[in-house]
Amino acid sequence: MNILDEEFAEFQKLPTEERIGCFEKNGRLFDMIRSQQLNREIIDDIYRITNHLRRISKSKPGSVFMQNILCHKRAMLWFTQPSSRTFLSFESACHMLGIKTSEIRDARVSSEVKGESYDDSLRTFSSYTDLIIMRHKGENIAERAAWLLNTRTNRQVPVINGGSGSDQHPTQAILDVYTLQRSFEKQGGLDGKTILMCGDLKRGRTARSLSYLMKNFEDIKIIYAAPQAFQMKEDVCSFLERHNIPYLLETEALENVLPEADAIYVTRIQDEHDAIADESSRIDTSRFRLRPLDMSKVKSTAVIMHPFPRRDEIDVAIDSDPRAMYWRQERNGMWTRAALIAYIFDVHDEILNY
Ligand code: NCD
Repeated sequence: MNILDEEFAEFQKLPTEERIGCFEKNGRLFDMIRSQQLNREIIDDIYRITNHLRRISKSKPGSVFMQNILCHKRAMLWFTQPSSRTFLSFESACHMLGIKTSEIRDARVSSEVKGESYDDSLRTFSSYTDLIIMRHKGENIAERAAWLLNTRTNRQVPVINGGSGSDQHPTQAILDVYTLQRSFEKQGGLDGKTILMCGDLKRGRTARSLSYLMKNFEDIKIIYAAPQAFQMKEDVCSFLERHNIPYLLETEALENVLPEADAIYVTRIQDEHDAIADESSRIDTSRFRLRPLDMSKVKSTAVIMHPFPRRDEIDVAIDSDPRAMYWRQERNGMWTRAALIAYIFDVHDEILNY
């Protein structure tokens, strides 16, 4: 343990509510590390910015305008875990705003192989860039990065968490909530809806981050459908209890709860986190897949979502059902990430006033 390890361990003993204060600057969101940082005001702002952005980008003068907004900034995409959507949508989001990007996608081609610590790598990246977007298998590496830059250096470089181990994926939650808000625009918004999450809820960072965001909406009900071995962990459940969000644990079969749901959020089994090889494959997940014949039990106004990648949790025959929202959800990732970056750099008014 070096001195930074010790100091960070002390920081981590603080309750989440206190720690997240470290990721604000001048009372505004600065780093995006955990979903708990987001309040309704920020979520609604991002919703409006995203809608404007999408519209502006449709025309050539609009996209040229956008490319000037942050053309003086550079971003580092530091993704040492596999990624297709999150990486590409962040890269596209940066380019949309004129931000130049650099990337490391494999620790084997960085100085990490020479024994450099994450802290030193991070300080190096922060010397060359104005924004660090990172994905890492470690649950606390993004948090440590933001803590280190904010409290131990004078570099004003925001950190965005693009997925931290099996813990959090806050920007996925932002795009998921955006998709939900947009889908329910004509049904009174997301307030009052029942969200059914299914799959590997224990190790699925997307379902965890999305659950935390639900505190910002009124009268939400959550149903977690998963075999007992993959059920939502205690930390998220007690968070929901503290925020008076009713939730139900379904461990028998997805079909039992399908008729109640306004949104069905399906996730894959996260077997890369298996402690013992093939451990997940020994658990029967066959009753937690969405099959074409189940669709008659789903409300006609419901939306089906999936953070992707998918395996066999949603049959491809469902893709043509108008309730399947996952491809649109995926595209929303690029727009909402551009909106978040504009918000963090406090240039979103330029977009809103265009
Ligand atoms: C998710 C992830 O990486 O957590 N993918 C994504 O970013 N859209 C979900 C997953 O890998 O299952």
